[in-house]
Amino acid sequence: MSEFEKKKIIFIEKIKNSKNLPELTIINSEIFGKNGIINSEFKKLGSLSSDERKNFAANINKVKQELLELYKIKVNDVQDKEIIDKIAKEKVDITLPEKEFNIGKIHPVSQVIDEISCIFSEIGFTVEEGPDVENEYYNFTALNTPENHPAKDMHDTFYIDKDLKTLLRTHTSPVQVRTMLKGKPPFKIIAPGRTYRSDSDQTHTPMFHQLEGLHIDKNINMGHLKGCLNYFIKEFFEIKKIKMRFRPSHFPFTEPSAEVDIGYRIENNKIIIGEGDKWLEVLGCGMVHPNVLKNSKVNPNNFQGFAFGIGIDRLAMLKYGINDLRSFFECDYRWLKYYGFDPLDVPTNYRGLSR
Ligand code: PHE
Repeated sequence: MSEFEKKKIIFIEKIKNSKNLPELTIINSEIFGKNGIINSEFKKLGSLSSDERKNFAANINKVKQELLELYKIKVNDVQDKEIIDKIAKEKVDITLPEKEFNIGKIHPVSQVIDEISCIFSEIGFTVEEGPDVENEYYNFTALNTPENHPAKDMHDTFYIDKDLKTLLRTHTSPVQVRTMLKGKPPFKIIAPGRTYRSDSDQTHTPMFHQLEGLHIDKNINMGHLKGCLNYFIKEFFEIKKIKMRFRPSHFPFTEPSAEVDIGYRIENNKIIIGEGDKWLEVLGCGMVHPNVLKNSKVNPNNFQGFAFGIGIDRLAMLKYGINDLRSFFECDYRWLKYYGFDPLDVPTNYRGLSR
């Protein structure tokens, strides 16, 4: 057997026994590389006679072909095996019990906004939004609160730029004007959002949430307002009867104006809403002032309606028994874990708002 034949047998064995691609790459250059056995054999051609050359070269090519076939098959096998091993390693045992993992919680304020939106959507209100950074015109002037009006001081406004008259909105009422200016009556909207006043104690934070309501149509009166709020409070607290009182009040943008209190009592340190002899203020409301309608390009001779502004955080505190408003905004995860809601607990009217 020639040396070349012997080498061929050795390399056939080597290919067969190789286990991975790096090994095969080395074998490849040992056989087919510049100094590999095939090239070295071809170099011998020069010393042969022309008769011998043909057979000699044909034999080298035959061996080359044979080794190449074998090599390719082996590479395929190794690659297949690598994939199979990888898949086997990645296999997931779906019969294993689920891992306990921490899911995020929905903040009570977000949950309550969803609940309120849900209640009002049932009676035809749609949701509007306005900017947190407002200007004096929408926040005060258009709302019939002229320059030097004492209500401006009452609001403890955070001014951003006194010259540009930009400020952080002190209430959601500017959304009334913005909504009316961009559409045509009738209007039936709610507008939840953040509001800001320079104030901080157990029931006040510099940033808090309000929900504005506005219903403008041809024949809307105080009776509609009362019915609407009565329905809302009952649905929100999920109770059948509610003790509620309208107290005369003053807002520049409504005439007449009222504040609404709901009755409650304390029993075993728990607050019972809807009955008892204590009163809690929950919202301000009234019939939209003709000047506000005029500023909003609505003709007060043809259209009228009511507006209200609800303190969302306060309602959340009442409904879910949270007694310090400041804790809402401290971003303490332990607090959120306790008072927060499951993300899948989406409020709906038909299956109960807050199961
Ligand atoms: N904007 C008023 C406030 O923040 C509440 C309100 C809204 C009153 C709409 C009447 C009508 O106190």
